[in-house]
Amino acid sequence: MSKAITLQEFIMDSQAEFPFVSGQLTRLLTDIGVAAKIVNHQVNRAGLAGILGQSGSQNTHNEDQQKLDVFADNTFMRILTAGKSVAGIGSEEQDGYILCHDQGKQGKYVVMIDPLDGSSNIDVNVSIGTIFSIYRRVTPLGEPLSDQDFLQKGTQQVVAGYILYGSSTMLVYTTGSGVNGFTMDPAIGEFFLSHPRMAFPESGMIYSINDALLDASPPAVKIFIEGCKETHGISLKARYIGSLVTDFHRNLIKGGIYLYPSTTYNPQGKLRLMYECNPLAFIAQQAGGHAEDNYREILEIQPESLHQRSPFYVGSVNMIQGLRSCWMATSDPG
Ligand code: AHG
Ligand code: MN
Ligand code: MN
Repeated sequence: MSKAITLQEFIMDSQAEFPFVSGQLTRLLTDIGVAAKIVNHQVNRAGLAGILGQSGSQNTHNEDQQKLDVFADNTFMRILTAGKSVAGIGSEEQDGYILCHDQGKQGKYVVMIDPLDGSSNIDVNVSIGTIFSIYRRVTPLGEPLSDQDFLQKGTQQVVAGYILYGSSTMLVYTTGSGVNGFTMDPAIGEFFLSHPRMAFPESGMIYSINDALLDASPPAVKIFIEGCKETHGISLKARYIGSLVTDFHRNLIKGGIYLYPSTTYNPQGKLRLMYECNPLAFIAQQAGGHAEDNYREILEIQPESLHQRSPFYVGSVNMIQGLRSCWMATSDPG
């Protein structure tokens, strides 16, 4: 019987394989794995620890923060700032970016993170996650970080990944050379390689959208979804959990498309470019899938602000192409 590969072994092996993966990045990935275990532990005992419910505060998007949102944010901040690899962090839960180590003069990397995705599902025991991406700093080492280090296009990502606190806990990530998934063995608290070289099926059977948004969505999205419904659940099925990371993960494994459209009242949609769309777009690309907004590749968008939102369509290439045909048919570039 061959020996199972742990996350740590896999990270170390990848470092040897890719010369650009420095020791600092190896340590950073290891730190993310450690933070994931701590958050996972707290997620699993949420009901017992009296940690359920709202914290009473609001985040920068004027959304109620859940206690686990705050716990996850604090945990990732504490562990990432303690390491030597990270110069700065942008978090969905923080107004501005955080500079580590003497105004961000040291550390090669910048991290963007949605510490707890799907927080409306915490209280009802439904799967939630963490989404992260890592960029190289642009400002030379020894100088303080500036906006340009944080507002990089998705194409500049060095690593993107997510942790899924589901029926089992998984960590899925890419360093730009395919996507690999690791499942935690809760008995020993170790992640093992369980899903090597993950790939989006070219076509899928699943479409995922909050149906309540449809009336206010662009005509192309309406037409696409009407087409999905016309199959009467025979060839296509609707599945929407309401935790982006969970909906994405299911569609990655089974084949499908996830849509969070622009609406008449939210022209930029809801999801955040830096913390949600870019990392999942990079993972999708590395798994053979695709991600767009109404008229562009997600990864090509030049971010203008840290908390910028974007319409988001991601999934199996043939389904994204089907949606694209609907944009063409309505002559609506979005
Ligand atoms: P977060 O919990 O980080 O604020 O993200 C919530 C997001 C995403 O996870 C999910 O897909 C989407 O919000 C659901 O939005 P609707 O309730 O509007 O469908
Ligand atoms: Mn989120
Ligand atoms: Mn969140």
